[in-house]
Amino acid sequence: MGKDLPAAAGGIPVRTEKLYYAHQYIDESDIAAVESVLRSDFLTCGPAIDGLEEKLCRITGAEHAAVCTNGTAALHMACMAIGLQPGDEVIVTPLTFAASANCVLYCNAKPVFSDVDPETYLLDPSKIEEKINSHTKAVITVDYGGQASPLPELTDICRRHGLKLIEDAAHSIGTSYRGLGNVGSIADITTFSFHAVKVVTGGEGGAVTTNDPELFSKMALYRTHAITRDPSLMENEPEGPWYYEQVGLSMNYRMTDIQAALISGQLDKLELFKKRRQEICGRYDEAFSRIPGIGLQKVIPESDTARHLYVIRIKEGAFGIDRKGFFDALSKENIIPNVHYIPVYLHPWYRAHGYSRGLCPIAEKIYDEMITLPLYYSMTDDDVRDVIRAVSRIAEYYIK
Ligand SMILES: Cc1ncc(COP(=O)(O)O)c(C=O)c1O
Repeated sequence: MGKDLPAAAGGIPVRTEKLYYAHQYIDESDIAAVESVLRSDFLTCGPAIDGLEEKLCRITGAEHAAVCTNGTAALHMACMAIGLQPGDEVIVTPLTFAASANCVLYCNAKPVFSDVDPETYLLDPSKIEEKINSHTKAVITVDYGGQASPLPELTDICRRHGLKLIEDAAHSIGTSYRGLGNVGSIADITTFSFHAVKVVTGGEGGAVTTNDPELFSKMALYRTHAITRDPSLMENEPEGPWYYEQVGLSMNYRMTDIQAALISGQLDKLELFKKRRQEICGRYDEAFSRIPGIGLQKVIPESDTARHLYVIRIKEGAFGIDRKGFFDALSKENIIPNVHYIPVYLHPWYRAHGYSRGLCPIAEKIYDEMITLPLYYSMTDDDVRDVIRAVSRIAEYYIK
C-alpha cells in the first residue's frame, strides 16, 4: 500500500467533523435528576449532598466522604486538614495540573517536585526519599491518566517517615489497586474532581475521602469557612440555637445539590464508562504499539484502571516532525488533541519563585514528546477508527 498523504501535507482529512479529546456523556436520567432538584426545596446543603457522599463511600470503600466545589478545593481542604504550616514542605509530582501543587502554596508551605517514572508517568518512589527532610509533612501523588499510583511503596515511605499521603485521584474515580482496594480507600486522604472532562462529571465538582475521622471532621469544617455549629468544636458555650463559631480560616467550598444530583447519576454509569474507555484504549494499544517511533504509557497490572487520558509519545528524532508538528498534523485531520501536562514548575509563577528547568528531567522529556488523544465514553467505533487512521498515516508519512 502506498503512503496515504496526511491532511497536513495537502491530503484530505480523515474526517470532516472535529473530534475533541474529551466530551461529557449526559443522558435523560441525568437531566431528570437535575430537574428534580430544581423542583425541590434544597438547591444546596440538601439531601442530594448526603446521598452523593454515601454513594462515594460505597463506591470507593472509604469510611468518610465530603463533596465540595471542585478538585482544587478538595486538595486545599486536604492540605489544611493535615495542618500544613509556613515552612513545611510537601513532595509533589510535576506531571500534573497546577492545582496539585498550588494547594500546598495556599497554606504558605513549599511544594518540592520529585520526578516521575519514565514509563508509567507516576511519581517514582525510588526518588522520593532523597527529598525528605525535617520540614517534609506529606506526599501528593497523582494517578496520572487514571492509573493508580504505586500505593504500596508510597504508603511504606510515608509510614516510615511519619508523612501523610494525599492521593490526587482527579483522573481515577473507579480505579482500584489489586489487593489494596479501590482508589479513595487507600491513601490518608484521596481527592477527586468532577470537572467536565473527567470520567464522571457535574460540570464542576470535587470530593475528599478518608478513613480517618479526625481528618474528615477537619475537612468538613474547612469546606464551610471553618464555621461550626458543633458545640464540641466551639470555644464558647452556644448563646442560643442560632449560634455558630468560626474557629479557623477557610473558604466557601460547598457543592450545590444540582451538581450532586448530576454526579450521583453519573456514578451509576461508572462501570459502563470504565468498560468503554478500557475498550477504546485496547484498540489504541493494539494499533499504536505496532508503530515505530510512538511510545505508550506503561500499564501496570496492579491497577484496574478507569482510563481518563490516552497519551502517545512522539519519540525525539523518530519522525521528520516533532511533537508540535505531529499535534498540528492531527489537528488538520480534524482530530483535536491536547497535552497533559506542562510540568508545573515551568509555569512563570513558579519560575519567578525560584523553580527552574532541569528539576525533573524525566517529566520534562515526557512533556516534550506527549500528545493526549481523544478518549471518552460516547466515542463511536468510527471515531476510534478515525483517530487510529490519522495517527497511523501521519506516522507513516513522516517516519525517518
Ligand atoms: C490531576 C488534577 N488535579 C487537580 C485538578 C483540579 O480539579 P478541578 O478542575 O476540579 O479544580 C485537576 C483538574 O483538572 C487535575 O487534572
